[in-house]
Amino acid sequence: MKKNEYINAVEKLNLYAKHYYVLDDPITTDEVYDRLYHEVLDYEEAHPEDILASSPTQRVGDSVSEGFVKEKHLSKMWSLEDVFDREGLEKWLTKTYKLDKNITFYCEPKYDGASLNLIYEDGKLIKGITRGDGSVGELITQNVKTIHSVPLEIEHKELIEIRGEVVIFKDEFERINEERLKKGEQLFANPRNAAAGSLRQLDSTITASRNLVFLPYGVGVNALPQKLLHKKMEYIYSLGFRKPPKRAVCKDRDEIESIYQQMMHDRESYAMMLDGMVIKVDEIAAQIDMGYTVKVPRYAVAYKFPAVEKITTVKDIVLQVGRTGAVTPVAVVEPTNIDGVVVERATLHNFDEIERKDIRLGDKVIILRSGDVIPKIIKVLTHERDGSEQIFTKPTHCPVCKSELLQEEVLIKCQNLECEARVVNSIIYFASKPCLNIDGLGVKIVEQLFNVGLVKSVVDLFDLTLEKLLTLEGFKEKKAQNLLNSIEASKGKEYWRFINALGIEHIGEVASKTLAERFGFAFIDATKEEIISCDGIGEEMAESVLEFVRVNRETILKLQELLKPQEPIKREEAKENPFKGKTVVLTGTMSESRGVIKEMLESLGAKVSSSVSKKTDFLIYGEDAGSKYDKAISLGIKCLTESVMKEILQ
Ligand code: IVH
Repeated sequence: MKKNEYINAVEKLNLYAKHYYVLDDPITTDEVYDRLYHEVLDYEEAHPEDILASSPTQRVGDSVSEGFVKEKHLSKMWSLEDVFDREGLEKWLTKTYKLDKNITFYCEPKYDGASLNLIYEDGKLIKGITRGDGSVGELITQNVKTIHSVPLEIEHKELIEIRGEVVIFKDEFERINEERLKKGEQLFANPRNAAAGSLRQLDSTITASRNLVFLPYGVGVNALPQKLLHKKMEYIYSLGFRKPPKRAVCKDRDEIESIYQQMMHDRESYAMMLDGMVIKVDEIAAQIDMGYTVKVPRYAVAYKFPAVEKITTVKDIVLQVGRTGAVTPVAVVEPTNIDGVVVERATLHNFDEIERKDIRLGDKVIILRSGDVIPKIIKVLTHERDGSEQIFTKPTHCPVCKSELLQEEVLIKCQNLECEARVVNSIIYFASKPCLNIDGLGVKIVEQLFNVGLVKSVVDLFDLTLEKLLTLEGFKEKKAQNLLNSIEASKGKEYWRFINALGIEHIGEVASKTLAERFGFAFIDATKEEIISCDGIGEEMAESVLEFVRVNRETILKLQELLKPQEPIKREEAKENPFKGKTVVLTGTMSESRGVIKEMLESLGAKVSSSVSKKTDFLIYGEDAGSKYDKAISLGIKCLTESVMKEILQ
């Protein structure tokens, strides 16, 4: 780096920092910021005479914003040194072991939220203060009191500062953003910004509506007797604070690395966003001996996870036509490696989203990849535009069959039932896992069968023979026979799969199960009133079923004859009981297998679902209940142990 590049880099960092800290509206990713920050640090180490007073390295923390009363922390809130890989960790460990050989480590997640200091006096929460610059923060006690995971009183009467991170769970973040989208408000870029923004609301009712969660990670001023950090933390948890989703005391580097790998592997399944693992020396006496540099404690380090957000460029917007005819836009982006996966496409949901987010061809954007969901664009970097970006115009004709498209509310649809894309996608859907689960009938083969004219609709699948398949390129006897076997195996399956496979608009797996259970084979003769009377089926869905049956009755009967699905045994109506008609989620280890308990609850008329949501009525938990329990508590859902459930039923 040359001097003028250094000056530019400092300016850039300050711009990024202002957007991040002051405006709660980041214009870059943490990764880009961190990389530049470290380059600046390196330059400054080599040229101390050039250090600018405005460099972000020259201040610890950041400015306190106007609007709240400023308040001093009783003891300083420190920040952490970051390491990004095994090598960085090794260096830190070597340095730390040099200070003290006989140490162990306490490892816990690095939460991605906003830090908070809680002061308790005489067992009462008297102050909640944001981190601010580490010495002085903002007094936000009223807002903090709205957070359910912050106890207002604790069984510890001496003065204590409890530090932790305020986070927003990932699904709550989605909910808030959906609501903001509906209201036309600017979206939060990530859960961290949503947490920080929610915490600093002048109106506490807004804070209260955001379901914030407090996760403690340490103490400031305290008179606790424990000599080991993990013992102190166990004591803090016992006062009514949340435990981390994972924590461990590690003896050496191998144990640290192994916990890090586990945490990184499981990170998607945690309710909150993590951006790394924090490693702290467990022995308090050693911590005190090691002390601090100007900025960070020597006894702790943040071992960061690879970023899930990256900056890339929108090269093109292509159109996909689904089995229902809906045309969806997909962004083609400059290939970008995110955590080991090369991302080339990002979903755009619908055309309104392109307009709302003002995504233009050539735009620089931040994309987020989490788990196996398709990456999405979370932010357009409008300040990076140079005027060459082009506005995308909505299509008027189907990109596949060229017929005219119809706008139906937010959707744009191809109306042509014979459109190749619609036919091919409906066959792929028919064969997919939650439908008839036909192994080996993926996109490529369906396209091939369609293109040579062997399969023009799902019915044709059952006319395929070895001879016909052997005429296809790439098909040898074994592959052909396997495909025929898989098609044969799709016969005699559960009836709900059959209904689901028909691909009736608005009718997914759950509705298919409901229809199959309620009507059996007679579902094609059900009236609108009968269909609407089913739990969870509304008018639009019922009309969709009726219209589908009206147009396709012959095909349904023909397929039914070919596939011979099993007619479900209709359940007797359950007697009145507290679980009848309720949605129940099971978690943790129970005295019997979960399948047995699920069966029993279903026979009582309950719906057993696998994930906790607002619609859940009860959570029944066994030993070692994890994130589902946490989530249920945060949503205020009734949680029962297995034995309480059994008592209720007696
Ligand atoms: S300990 C003495 N532990 O990360 C060390 N910090 O980058 C002080 N953070 O300002 C911090 N999870 O807001 C610690 N398990 C954890 C954390 C954590 C998240 C945040 C915290 C801090 C920032 C430093």
